[in-house]
Amino acid sequence: MITGSNSGIGKEAAVALAGMGASIFMVCRDPAKGEAARKEVVTRSGVSDDRATLMIADLASLDSVRQLARDFLSKNQKLHVLINNAGLILGDRVLTKDGLETTFEVNYLSHFLLTNLLLGAIKAAAPSRIINVSSEANSRGHIDFEDLQEEKNFGATRSYSQSKLAQVLFTRELAKRLEGTGVTVNSLHPGVVATNWGRHSVGAMSAGIRLASPFMASAKKGAETTVYLASSSDVERVTGQYFAKKREEKSAKESYDEAVALKLWNVSLVLAGLSDEQRTAG
Ligand SMILES: NC(=O)c1ccc[n+]([C@@H]2O[C@H](COP(=O)([O-])OP(=O)(O)OC[C@H]3O[C@@H](n4cnc5c(N)ncnc54)[C@H](OP(=O)(O)O)[C@@H]3O)[C@@H](O)[C@H]2O)c1
Repeated sequence: MITGSNSGIGKEAAVALAGMGASIFMVCRDPAKGEAARKEVVTRSGVSDDRATLMIADLASLDSVRQLARDFLSKNQKLHVLINNAGLILGDRVLTKDGLETTFEVNYLSHFLLTNLLLGAIKAAAPSRIINVSSEANSRGHIDFEDLQEEKNFGATRSYSQSKLAQVLFTRELAKRLEGTGVTVNSLHPGVVATNWGRHSVGAMSAGIRLASPFMASAKKGAETTVYLASSSDVERVTGQYFAKKREEKSAKESYDEAVALKLWNVSLVLAGLSDEQRTAG
């Protein structure tokens, strides 16, 4: 399953993994864009039509994520690889209908919820893998527990970096909890990649992205580390790590702070509305 697979890195990862023989569940928010991408994945990877399934979900809605998990679990399907890829950066502070800052919810919290809700299916498929598409921006991030939703102090890169650091902390905490289950979880930076990323940002950042895009890596190249973590036997037993260019790298100093990781986990359980029963079902 790949979130945000109608575009950019997620779509290229879908093409590559379908070509290796995987059945792909493409999670997209827009049915028309999602179906066009699904058809493209089938055509480009040369697989039969039933190997790519479209699933509609808006990661800016926790209810939509819960429905996605229910839809998937109703198929009684094992899940060998979950790729938490969807992401965005916003120029303004916009609240979701859950009352949370959108970047935080889409990039991090919805993936935290989805992963927890699907853990039973992922464990049943072990050996299996979870991959969190973070960013080098994690190194500029800080988890501000006093202002997690950036009410007092919003900035596009501040919010984006916090969400990407949260993904790395989530990766480390989950890896500890999954010890001995045969499920690995790793995070990654895909490189600086020419995709639709940044189109919701404004001003100097938006102009900078447009100017720099001819010099950025292709989406196919940007998907390489994701595909590597999803499929290579080199990383069969590697867990809790952060990768770039298919190699283990250091992430932000704060991402190694176990107390921060545990606190973020507990705050996230409450924000995502996960019950005791749902947690232990994982
Ligand atoms: N490009 C880079 O240089 C770069 C660098 C570091 C990290 N990353 C990370 O790589 C990941 C993939 O980004 P990309 O570069 O491939 O950008 P992209 O082409 O914009 O793809 C992002 C995907 O996320 C989806 N998405 C956004 N908001 C969503 C929502 N509310 N619900 C469901 N899906 C949603 C988008 O769907 P729509 O098309 O419907 O908006 C799209 O499919 C992101 O997590 C990004 O932060 C990218």
